[in-house]
Amino acid sequence: MNVSILNQQSAAARRIHPSPSIAIVGATGAVGTELIGCLEKRGFPLSRLKLLASSRSAGRTAKFQGRDVVIDALGPMSFEGVDVALFAAGGSVSKEYARRAAQNGTIVIDNSSAFRMDADVPLVVPEVNGAELAHHHNLIANPNCTAAISVMALWPLHRENKIRRLIAATYQAASGAGAAAMEELRVSTQAYLEGRPYEPRVLPHPYAFNLFSHNDKVDLESGENGEEIKAARELRKIMNEPDLRIGITCVRVPVFRAHTIAMTVEFERPMSPDQAREILKAAPGVDIVDDRAANRFPMPRDASGRDSVIVGRFRQDKSDPSGHSLSLLVAGDQLLKGAALNAVQIAEELIR
Ligand SMILES: NC(=O)c1ccc[n+]([C@@H]2O[C@H](COP(=O)([O-])OP(=O)(O)OC[C@H]3O[C@@H](n4cnc5c(N)ncnc54)[C@H](OP(=O)(O)O)[C@@H]3O)[C@@H](O)[C@H]2O)c1
Repeated sequence: MNVSILNQQSAAARRIHPSPSIAIVGATGAVGTELIGCLEKRGFPLSRLKLLASSRSAGRTAKFQGRDVVIDALGPMSFEGVDVALFAAGGSVSKEYARRAAQNGTIVIDNSSAFRMDADVPLVVPEVNGAELAHHHNLIANPNCTAAISVMALWPLHRENKIRRLIAATYQAASGAGAAAMEELRVSTQAYLEGRPYEPRVLPHPYAFNLFSHNDKVDLESGENGEEIKAARELRKIMNEPDLRIGITCVRVPVFRAHTIAMTVEFERPMSPDQAREILKAAPGVDIVDDRAANRFPMPRDASGRDSVIVGRFRQDKSDPSGHSLSLLVAGDQLLKGAALNAVQIAEELIR
C-alpha cells in the first residue's frame, strides 16, 4: 500500500520542528477532546500543548499526560509560537482565524469544511493521498467524516480495479453532530423511556428511537443535503477522480458514536467478494469483520473507540449480472479516523 511519507528533506525545507508546539482550537468539543486523547495515546512528540476554546470555557482545564492544562479563550494572538494548530471549532471560527494563522507561519490542520475544496488546500487521508502534503501552503484540510471512513475501504479496491460507480447509504451517529447532539440523544432517550415530553434543541427532529435524513441543509434545487454533497465531492478530490459517479443518501440514526455505510460499488472489471476481502485484509487502517455463519459484520459499537475502519458483508450485487459490482458494509469511528485521528496522522507525517 502506498502510504506516502514526507521525506526528511521536504520537512526540513518547511522548517517543521521535530517536536512542535501544538494548539487545539475547540479543545472542549467532541473532536477536540479526541484530539487531546490521540496526541497522548500516540505519544506525539510535542514540546508544548495549548488548548483553546470559546470564552465560555476559558479557565477550565483538560487533562493531558496526567497534568491539568488550562483552556484559553481563542483570540488574535493565540497562535504566536505555535508550530501546528489543529482546528475543530466549526467553519466560522476556521474562516476567521485559520488563514491568518497559516500566513503567520503556523501549519493549520482544519477539521471544518471551510477550505476542503479550495484548490490550494490539500484534503488528506494519509493512507490514500499523503503525497499531497508535499504541496501544502500551511493549510491542510481534514475530510468530512463519511468521506474519510468510506475512502479507507474504497481506495485499496480502486487501486486494484478502478471504481466506476458508487451507491451508498449512511447510518450516521450523534457524535458526528458534536458533543451537544450526543447529549441530546442521551437525555431525549431517557425522557422517552420515562414517558416525559422532550423538545429537540440541537437536531431538527425527535432523536430517540427515530432516524431522519441528515440534518445538514437541503439544496432546494437538487434535493441533496449538505452531507451528501460534501461526501461525494470530497471522495472525488481525495481519490483524484473528478468524474467518479457517486449517489449517496445520508441518514442520522440514534447511535452515540461511529458511522456505518452500506455501499454498492461497480468496478471496471469483475470483482469477487473473496478478491475484495483479500485486498482489504492487506490494507493499512482496515480490519475485516465478515463472519457469515455467526451473522457478525461491521457494527458501530465495535467501531467506537477503534482507530481502524471495519469492513465486511462482502457479497456480489445481484442487480448487476456482469459480476462487476459488489456490496459491502463499512463502520468507522468518525471522531477518530473521521476527524481527530486523521488530523494527528497528518501532523505525524509532517514531522517525519
Ligand atoms: N464530530 C465529528 O465527528 C466531526 C467529524 C469531522 C469534522 N468535524 C468538524 O469538526 C469541528 C468541531 O466539531 P465537534 O463535533 O467537535 O463540535 P462540538 O462538539 O460542538 O465542539 C465545538 C468546539 O468549538 C468551540 N468553539 C465554538 N465556538 C467557538 C469560538 N467562537 N471560538 C473558539 N472556540 C469555539 C467549542 O468551545 P466551547 O466549549 O467553549 O463552546 C468547542 O470546543 C466542526 O467543524 C465539525 O464540522 C466534526
